[in-house]
Amino acid sequence: MRKNIVAGNWKMNNDLPETEALISDLLKQKQTSNAEVIIAPTAVNLYQAFNATRNSNIEVVAQNMHFAENGAYTGEISAAMLKSVGVNTVIIGHSERRAYFNETDDLLAKKVDTALKNDLRVIFCFGEELNDRKSGNHETVVENQIKNALFHREASAFKNIILAYEPVWAIGTGETASPEQAQDMHKYIRQTLNTKYGKEVSQDMTILYGGSVKPANAKEIFSKPDVDGGLIGGAALKAEDFYAIINAF
Ligand code: 13P
Repeated sequence: MRKNIVAGNWKMNNDLPETEALISDLLKQKQTSNAEVIIAPTAVNLYQAFNATRNSNIEVVAQNMHFAENGAYTGEISAAMLKSVGVNTVIIGHSERRAYFNETDDLLAKKVDTALKNDLRVIFCFGEELNDRKSGNHETVVENQIKNALFHREASAFKNIILAYEPVWAIGTGETASPEQAQDMHKYIRQTLNTKYGKEVSQDMTILYGGSVKPANAKEIFSKPDVDGGLIGGAALKAEDFYAIINAF
């Protein structure tokens, strides 16, 4: 079912004491919206974060995982390992992983399959680069990213997938897509899903926007009919800002 979600992607920030301090600050905030609240701390702190949020409505999710079930993949983390520390959702396909760790559509398709097979919900990220937008190819780029990593799946798989449109040019730059640009792309994504899977899948799909979402712009972005929430980077590292965004619904 389509939901309002605000997810904080902490990226490679916050060691253990900082993770505990930020969670303690988050737990002091008041939520006035009905949005689902997610935080994605670094992998080494997932277990502590899970325990610290146990009696709250904050869900702790992972930023990444490997596609293999187990084996000789030094430094990697499996779906089963995530499940064993209380994680039920994983972010896959973030543009930083695509750009800095050479994650391709084919690799991401494998990760999606492994996550779903292990009953993990997937937050699947994608988004065009600045030159794609300048040349007017942004819709094609995004459509291909979604098709290549997800369209081998059956319709029922999409119940456990959340989409996150994050234009690369808007991540950490302070430059946000305008609410209209976000709405246009989200609508296009929903149409693409509708063409392939029909109305139920497309209407039920939760589509988040990410890229320089702040307390000052969240309300306008979230007011767009096809924007169901946000994936927040920098502003998720301050409890007050994160909750101001959550309460922007
Ligand atoms: P910023 O909110 O810092 O632009 O980051 C967005 C993002 O990449 C979330 O995954």
